[in-house]
Order: sequence, then C-alpha cells, then structure tokens
Amino acid sequence: MANLINGKEIAAKVKEDIAKEAGNLAEYGVTPGLAVIIVGDDPASKIYVRNKKKACEEVGFYSEEFALPEKTSQKELLALIDTLNKRFDIDGILVQLPLPKHLNEKAVIGAISPKKDVDAFSPFNVGRVMIGEYRFLPCTPAGVMELIHSTGVEVCGKKCVVIGRSNIVGKPMAMMLLNESGTVTICHSKTENLAEITSQADILVSAVGKAKFVTADMVKEGAVVIDVGMNHDDDGKLCGDVDFADVEPKAGWITPVPGGVGPMTIAMLMKNTLTAAKINAAAATKKSGKKN
Ligand code: GUN
Repeated sequence: MANLINGKEIAAKVKEDIAKEAGNLAEYGVTPGLAVIIVGDDPASKIYVRNKKKACEEVGFYSEEFALPEKTSQKELLALIDTLNKRFDIDGILVQLPLPKHLNEKAVIGAISPKKDVDAFSPFNVGRVMIGEYRFLPCTPAGVMELIHSTGVEVCGKKCVVIGRSNIVGKPMAMMLLNESGTVTICHSKTENLAEITSQADILVSAVGKAKFVTADMVKEGAVVIDVGMNHDDDGKLCGDVDFADVEPKAGWITPVPGGVGPMTIAMLMKNTLTAAKINAAAATKKSGKKN
C-alpha cells in the first residue's frame, strides 16, 4: 500500500509560511499584489481564478480580478497588461489560460513584464529555468517538486519519467528534475512502448489529461507517482491521469486527485508573488535611495 502525499496539507504549510512573511513585509508598508485577468466564461477557468483570489486573501495579499468579456480584442488586452506592468501596487500579473481562440496567447504572455510574470510562462523566464538561474519557477512543476521532496526520496540519480510535453507542465517539469540530477525521459502521445518506459521510473509524473490513463502495469513497484491530471471519469467525477485504485497498491508514494498537485500550484503562485513583491520593493528602495 502506498504512502499518500497530502498536497492539501503541504500547501497549507507553504501558505502559512508565506502569510508570516507577508506579515513581516507589511511592517515595511509592502503588500504583495496580484492581478488576475480572465477573458470569457470558461467555467473551469472561473473556478481556478476564484481559488487564486481566495488564496491571496488567506496569505494577506492584495488581489484584483479583471474579468473581461469573450469578445475582448488583442489590443484591449495588451493595453490592460501595459497598465498593470506600470502599476506599483501590482507585483504579479496572471492571465488565465486558455484564452479565446481569436487572441494570440504567445503575444499576450510575452507582453507581461518578466518581473511580474508569476506564472513563469514568458520566454525570458522559461529561458532562466533552462539555465538554472531563475526568480520564478512555473507553479505546477514547482509544486510537484515540493511534493517529491516531501517523500524524502532523492531525485539525484533516479530514473524520472514525465508523461506529457506541454510548455506549462511537461517541459519545465523535466527541466526541474534534470536540475536536481535526475535521469529524465519525456514521453508523449507518439511514444512507442510507453508502459515499458514508465515501468522503469523511480519517479513518475503524469500530465497527459486523460482519465485513469496510468494503470498498475505501467508503474514500477515502490515508485513515487505524481498525478497532475484534472479530468472527469465516465460518471462525471473528478479524477486524475492515474487509475488510483489500480496503482495505489503498487506505488510507494502517490498523490490523490483532488488534494494532490492542485493545491500546490496555487501555493507556488503565492510564493512567486511574494518573491516578485520582495524584488519590486528592493528595487523601489534602491531607486529612492532609502536604506533599511
Ligand atoms: N490554465 C491552466 N493552468 C494554468 C496556470 O497555471 N496558469 C495560468 N495562467 N493559466 C492556467
């Protein structure tokens, strides 16, 4: 029987520490501020945005939501980002993805100041992760790393397999495991003999978005299994990429869905916003010539 990795509990601890730091910053008149932009009415995106705002309240950050209509033009969205880039009370800017089809996602992400890009999605911040010199790590893979660390299993030298190659999760996930000296393989929809590869993994991360895709035959006995998926099964019930009932008896460690990676993503967003606020406050102090 696997040990359960309780993402909800670990995220609560991370947020508790962040709230303490935010309390210290408040003594210097600094309140971290996050702007969250959502375009259109995607129900899942609305829930994510609501949870992000709620987390801001929990840790004592200022947050502002910009809920824009579906028909918002690229020009209007870029103008808003430009305004937020210049606002001193806003440390982090997050544009909830996916955007409606008529908007150019790459251009929108690229317009966010790298200093305020708390998702770490912009080419500049992605490049910094690649060379291991980053201010922000992308939230979901950063949360996964925390969950792996919580098991006490060392990444160094281990066979790590990531299923999924998205820019948001799969690719940066592989890079972070590599940065900790894991031996990393990225699998995807075109991978041949997938089960043969995944069943060698000491650490298996699944981010494919297919309900109950990972079954026991694909998992090594005692492996750390991290499930990034947020899917719905045939009965409409929320489930991950991993067939939990099938895999749990074989894994050494496993994350549940919900209550695994999801809460960590938001906790890492809070961490990035705090980092941005500290950097911006230090820069402002330097500019004004003040010394603390
Ligand atoms: N859509 C799904 N996940 C994310 C995320 O982590 N950040 C943003 N901005 N949009 C998302």
